Amino acid sequence: MKQKWNDLDTPTLLLDKATLLANILTMSDFAKENSLSLRPHIKTHKSKEIAKLQMEHGAIGLTTAKLEEAEVMADAGITDILVAYPISSQVKIERAIALLQKGVDLKLAVDSLEQIKLLQKALEKSGHNLEVWIKVNSGLNRCGVEPGEDAVELAKAVLFLSQVRVGGIFTHAGHSYGARDAKELERIANAEAVAVVSSAEACEKAGIPIPVRSVGSTPTYRLAGVVEGITEVRPGNAVFFDSIQVGLGVARREECALSVLASVVGVYKDRIVLDTGSKTLCLDKGAHGLDSVKGYGYVVDHPELTIERLSEEHGVAVFESRSDLRLNDKVRIIPNHACTVANMFDAYTVVERDDVVGQWKVDARGMRK
Ligand SMILES: Cc1ncc(COP(=O)(O)O)c(C=O)c1O
Repeated sequence: MKQKWNDLDTPTLLLDKATLLANILTMSDFAKENSLSLRPHIKTHKSKEIAKLQMEHGAIGLTTAKLEEAEVMADAGITDILVAYPISSQVKIERAIALLQKGVDLKLAVDSLEQIKLLQKALEKSGHNLEVWIKVNSGLNRCGVEPGEDAVELAKAVLFLSQVRVGGIFTHAGHSYGARDAKELERIANAEAVAVVSSAEACEKAGIPIPVRSVGSTPTYRLAGVVEGITEVRPGNAVFFDSIQVGLGVARREECALSVLASVVGVYKDRIVLDTGSKTLCLDKGAHGLDSVKGYGYVVDHPELTIERLSEEHGVAVFESRSDLRLNDKVRIIPNHACTVANMFDAYTVVERDDVVGQWKVDARGMRK
């Protein structure tokens, strides 16, 4: 007989397989229908198993934030990888070159001439060639050159370098998480696409072809992806979804594939205490602030509860009138931010309806560098 997830010790990270597969298919169907390449960001799941499923279902390659994520995915046999982070230290450039050496079709994000020169210098020594993608800033004001002339200037500079070539222009509109309504989300998504397309067109006018024009954030990819001239989308969180996406109106609760199984460890007059604190649920309420997210996660089937406070191993849930929960009862919590919560666990417990059907490692979790 199969083990039931409700009998498991807690806290445990549950991954609903059917919902996961449906989310993977939603992304790949969207990409297919709109003739777009799909390059999901794997920082959400950090799992070889899930990355392989995404590749089997139409992804052409992966996006990572960290070099070690790229190393782990290369180890799983996935070779087309964009590291969407400005790599410039000597030690990291050498590790990137080691990936090229292994035959990985690596692309690195660039956003300054100084960085590109450091890459060129190391590549001259090793004899490798590298494709770089220019990152443009579309309003998040994190990394990236300004769209248009600054992007063209960088692309022109690369023409003079022997080991580096520009293969794409990309952006990430992470500020979409702060959108107050659907209209603002649309405006941000459109600006995201325009930043990339206008930069690519300006480069092409200057005689520099830009085959890949890539956008991506879970709240915006379906809006930005359909703008004329975009060729690729890079959703990450959409593989799981979470309470922040539900709060934004981007996903329905039933589409959330990840939850934390928790136990009631204390029952009091005005509150109950769960064994899920900040080391499990994280203190995240949305990177850019979101009024519609209530507490530190949504307790499934218990709308009367709000997880109001977290200490490291305790989650304090308050209720307005009463709660029927008793000591040792179990609840499922849909986290606010699935990406940070997955990074807290060693493995996903994969479930189908009530049954446990497997354990998948969070392979690239908690990596230092
Ligand atoms: C460069 C880049 N691309 C894509 C994504 C995916 O964003 P989301 O998780 O909102 O889909 C991120 C997220 O941090 C990112 O930084």
